[in-house]
Formats: sequence, C-alpha cells, structure tokens
Amino acid sequence: MTVQELKDVAAPVPVPVRPGVAPWVFHDGALVPFAEVGLPLTTQALQYGTGVFEGIRAYAVAGRPGELSIFRAHDHYERFLRSCRLLRIDVKHTAEELVERTFDLLRRNAVAHDTYLRPIAYKLGLLPGTPPGVRLTGLSESVSITAFTLGAYTPPGGIRCAISSWSRPRSSAIPVQAKVTGGYVNSALAVEEARAAGHDDAILLNDRGQVAEASTANVFALRDGHLITPPPSADLLPGITRDTVRVLAEAMGVETRERDLQVPDLLTADEVFLTGTGVGITPVVAVAGRPVGDGAPGPLTTRIVEAYDRTVRGAGDPRHDHWLTIVPIERG
Ligand SMILES: Cc1ncc(COP(=O)(O)O)c(C=O)c1O
Repeated sequence: MTVQELKDVAAPVPVPVRPGVAPWVFHDGALVPFAEVGLPLTTQALQYGTGVFEGIRAYAVAGRPGELSIFRAHDHYERFLRSCRLLRIDVKHTAEELVERTFDLLRRNAVAHDTYLRPIAYKLGLLPGTPPGVRLTGLSESVSITAFTLGAYTPPGGIRCAISSWSRPRSSAIPVQAKVTGGYVNSALAVEEARAAGHDDAILLNDRGQVAEASTANVFALRDGHLITPPPSADLLPGITRDTVRVLAEAMGVETRERDLQVPDLLTADEVFLTGTGVGITPVVAVAGRPVGDGAPGPLTTRIVEAYDRTVRGAGDPRHDHWLTIVPIERG
C-alpha cells in the first residue's frame, strides 16, 4: 500500500447532514456540528462491532410547548456505562454528567419536538505499539450523542410478528444484556427475514426454543388476567420500557410474572405487545400468521399504551415524574 493509499483509508469520511438529524452532536466532550464528525475507515468498531449504544427518547411535554422530557435518562446512562464496562470502554463521565450533556445538547439544538437520542461509545484506532487485530485494549475510544427527530413509527393498529428462524445468541456467546453494536446483526437478519415474508417484525427464540424477545423490543403476553414476560435468563435485553410497563400495569392492578414463554403461549394469548424505547408499546395483532385474540389491539394493551404516552409526556401519575428530566428549550 502506498503512503497516499494509507492516508486515504485513515482520512475521515465526510458525513452529510441527513434530514431529521439535529445539527449539533456531543462528541468526545464537546458540542460540535454533526457534519464535522467523521470516522476513519479503520475504525475498530466498524471493523469488528466493538461499540455500545443506547436509545433514549425525549418527548414534547403535554400542555407545555417548548419543554421536552427525557424519559428515564439516568437509567439509560447507567445501562450505557455497564455496556461500556463490558467492552472495556472508559467513558470518563458519570451517568449524571451524561444526562447533563444530553440536556445541553437538546438546548443547543433547540428542538422542541419528539427526539430520539443515540449515545454511542466505540473503539476507534490502535494506540502506538498495539498490533492490528481484534481486541478490546490498546485502542483509542470515542463517545458521542446524536439527536434525531423521531415520532412514533409503529402503526397504532398493531404489527404482525414472525417467529424467526434466527435464534437469539446465548449471553455466553454475545452478551445480549448489553447493547453491543456487533450483536445487532442478529436483529438485522431476523427483521429482514420477517419483512421478506410479509411480517412487520420478528420474535426470536433462544437456543432452548423459548421466546427471548423481538428484534429491538421485549415481549409481553396477557393470559388469565396477568402479564407474562420472559426472564433475563432467557437471553434478552431487560428493557427499561419493560420495567416501566411492569410498574404501570401494577398500578392498574395487573401483575407481571417473569417466566419462560413458549411459542404456543403466544399463539393462545389474549393479548401480545412489544415494549421498547423505539417502538414504545406496540400491540402485536398476529404471530406467525395467526391473529392474536380477535386480531385487534386488546383492551389492556390499549390502556397501557395510553398510560405510557401520558407518563412519558409528564401527564401521568405524578409519582412517576422522577423518571422525567425536563428540558426547557429556548427558541432563537
Ligand atoms: C434487543 C432489544 N431488546 C429490548 C429492547 C428494549 O429496551 P428498552 O425498553 O430499554 O428500550 C431494545 C431496545 O433498546 C433492544 O434493542
């Protein structure tokens, strides 16, 4: 390889600002224009999937235009830091500091509508003396938070899920309880297969044939008046929305039991829904081509969707307001 070729592969790739991306990002300790952040093609995380990320939402607060509420920001950043520890990424910020930087980011971008936040920490390049190859140490690292405009993207009338032929990897192979970038090839393969067969999303089983989770969401089933969701030992990411639903359902007098779920449990459930920061609470109206219940979002699912929407926008039970970080946006 010539010197010029080497320079070319190491040169940052110019990134065009794409619609929906807020103009400022938090990158390596400072707020910088999105378009100025480029990644060398040699980025370790690009080559080997050695990054971790979070998905956080900030919602327009009900009845208070110009205010956003970041939902369970602290919990998301605690999970982010746990994922970082697993990949030996030293973020040098506490969860509280990351919440504050996110607050600054939203104010700098002056976005007052529903926004998706994407913190990501990743392995960048070889430190002097480190030989090339797959590794977690001897590497530089980078941390950034990008903001995107993003409203609800799943249809309120519910989605149809396939049972994937791709299984969720065992946590002893890829730790699915951390949001490791490389692990998401599993979700991508499953979603692709499901959509090609005319479904909207995929439910993945673990290698013991039990229900694990959907491509980027947890699964709940309603049977005999209580909710069932698989336990973390079923090889899934125990979502923050999953925990939120447990609390909201409890307030409605509906208990959530963690137990292993089999495919027939889903096929015979009264209601099924998915939970995740991205999808929110999404009714599942068909599993493997069969209608769930009468094939429409069920009454409990509908109540939980409404309670969740009120809660994230600061119009729910005030006992849950500690989940919200309110950001007053100055329009200029
Ligand atoms: C694989 C997977 N499972 C579950 C979830 C739901 O997690 P949360 O509710 O914390 O967004 C997500 C989304 O982040 C995910 O990617």
